[in-house]
Amino acid sequence: MAELLNGLKRTHYAGLLREEHIDQKVVLMGWVQKRRNLGGLLFVDLRDREGIAQVVFDTAVSEEAFNKADAIRGEYVIAVEGRVKLRQSINEDIPSGKVEVFAENIKVLSESEVPPIHINDEDGAGEQLRLKYRYLDLRKPKMFRNLRFRSTVASVFRNFFDGEGFLEVETPFLNKPTPEGARDYLVPSRVNPNKFYALPQSPQLFKQMLMVSGVDRYYQIVKCFRDEDLRADRQPEFTQVDVEMSFVEEQDVMAINEKLMQKIFKETIGVDLPVPFMRMPYKEAMERFGSDKPDLRFGYELKALNDVVENCGFGVFADTVKAGKDVRAININEGAGEFSKKGMKNLEKLAKTYGAKGLAWMKLTEEGLDSPIAKFLTEDDVKAITERMEAKAGDLILFVADEPSVVYATLGALRCEIAKKLDKIEEGDYKILWINEFPLFEYSEDDDRYVAKHHPFTSPLDEDMDMIESDPANCRAKAYDMVLNGSEIGGGSIRIHNTDLQARMFKALGFSDEEAQAKFGFLLDAFKYGVPPHGGIAYGLDRVVMELLHIDNIRDVIAFPKTQQATCLLTDAPAPAEDAQLEELFLNLVTPVKDEE
Ligand code: AMO
Ligand code: AMP
Repeated sequence: MAELLNGLKRTHYAGLLREEHIDQKVVLMGWVQKRRNLGGLLFVDLRDREGIAQVVFDTAVSEEAFNKADAIRGEYVIAVEGRVKLRQSINEDIPSGKVEVFAENIKVLSESEVPPIHINDEDGAGEQLRLKYRYLDLRKPKMFRNLRFRSTVASVFRNFFDGEGFLEVETPFLNKPTPEGARDYLVPSRVNPNKFYALPQSPQLFKQMLMVSGVDRYYQIVKCFRDEDLRADRQPEFTQVDVEMSFVEEQDVMAINEKLMQKIFKETIGVDLPVPFMRMPYKEAMERFGSDKPDLRFGYELKALNDVVENCGFGVFADTVKAGKDVRAININEGAGEFSKKGMKNLEKLAKTYGAKGLAWMKLTEEGLDSPIAKFLTEDDVKAITERMEAKAGDLILFVADEPSVVYATLGALRCEIAKKLDKIEEGDYKILWINEFPLFEYSEDDDRYVAKHHPFTSPLDEDMDMIESDPANCRAKAYDMVLNGSEIGGGSIRIHNTDLQARMFKALGFSDEEAQAKFGFLLDAFKYGVPPHGGIAYGLDRVVMELLHIDNIRDVIAFPKTQQATCLLTDAPAPAEDAQLEELFLNLVTPVKDEE
């Protein structure tokens, strides 16, 4: 039966016992990891958040304690009183492995059923089970390490901004819906029937209004909500470290954020980060890496081949160039021997998932050229291609011919997938850079109009100011992303602080004055009363933690994450509401019609 503590106080964490504690009397409290009865001697591995200590029950020390210990099972919560001794057979695998505790007393504080997952980093339980029993999953050392690391990262962010004179200001969660950007999570209002709040996708408008208020330097560690399609690095609710500053230009925001990153790297993983970071215009990133979040830990850069293949005998290439589209390729150095026939088929399949119509390739071997398109090419064609690709025997060249967007997406993804597969990424390598000069607009086929690439409050570059109306497709913005190892960990911009310019921007986005006023009137009004030039950035805290720890799955750095279907397997959210709740909210439900398969 469970007993009360009766004044018993823990003196040490089990995982922190060391030789310096030898001969001390200690009280440990924690979970039973393992119990082995060797007859007369019984060993318990006692676990707490700091690790494991071995506790020995010896009938010669206390028969009563031995018998009680004999009745415990895995994951029981116990308190043990005893003396620390040097261990006979040292266990090099655990930090407390040089010592053990000879128990004089044991109390069972609570019992446990047989847990559905083993509390062990290598238990191999599927993610469904792990999420359903998340509280058990979080007992695993690796998961606890992630939680603790995340807490440390958040605290370094806080310390930095506090030290630099930033104010943490909370902004509301119940907001006006603004149908721009991702889909909103809506919350019905009971006291205002048929009206809805939206949960914030980010505190963007509030932080800008705080600048109008004269707060000058703001930050907030804040949950944001986006109802979008989920991927490995996206959650419907995620945490931003949100920042805004007044009287700054792009360079100022970048400089202080580089200083911040230096501190985070130093204090969380002990890495010295050189500053300033590399700055790469969006256009260059797309052309060289096929991505606006290039991973610079490996090469395989894209090269344009239009001039080289426009008159070649391979119709696909020549026709693509004639149609004004792009032929580009990557050189997988020393990759020729890495992919069998089936391997090449799989690469082509992968390429097609990004919209490519095919994946032409050339293996340069000591014996000569191996390529499905060799028969269409002259020796001179091959020479020109290999020269452009700086390819030598042993290399593999992969080509995609298509719209630039498809070429970029396909080759950009292939270079990352292949680098991973061929183990080209060094553990502990960190490559960080800024991508800037983003396009101000992007064309939305769905809406048949330009939409803001970042958000409608981002300023154009001074030199592109006249292009808002005349050449929106090529108009660049004072927007920047911070990219770490191929992940966009943060993004921001210098904002428009001029009502006329903001009005031009809304017009370019296809909003009438009335629409702009209805959606963002409160911000436009605020700007009438003295708005300082301002700009900022927001980090995805989850992603920063993932990248620092080299973790691929965003759910592993969040205590209670949602699944790819935006559900919580632990609590079963979302769930139907009671009729009475719906009535109070004046809501009627419509049963969704399922598509017939
Ligand atoms: P943005 O939309 O780029 O900018 O978001 C900032 C950062 O938040 C992270 N992020 C996410 N992380 C996990 N799951 C998601 N669904 C998700 N969506 C975004 C990314 C991203 O870089 N208000 C602007 C910032 C500004 O202009 O200051 C904004 O929200 O790491
Ligand atoms: P085909 O002559 O159509 O069999 O194509 C020969 C090779 O070119 C195959 O390896 C195809 O995958 C590849 N290919 C076809 N279309 C394209 C394209 N648009 N871009 C790159 N490679 C392609």
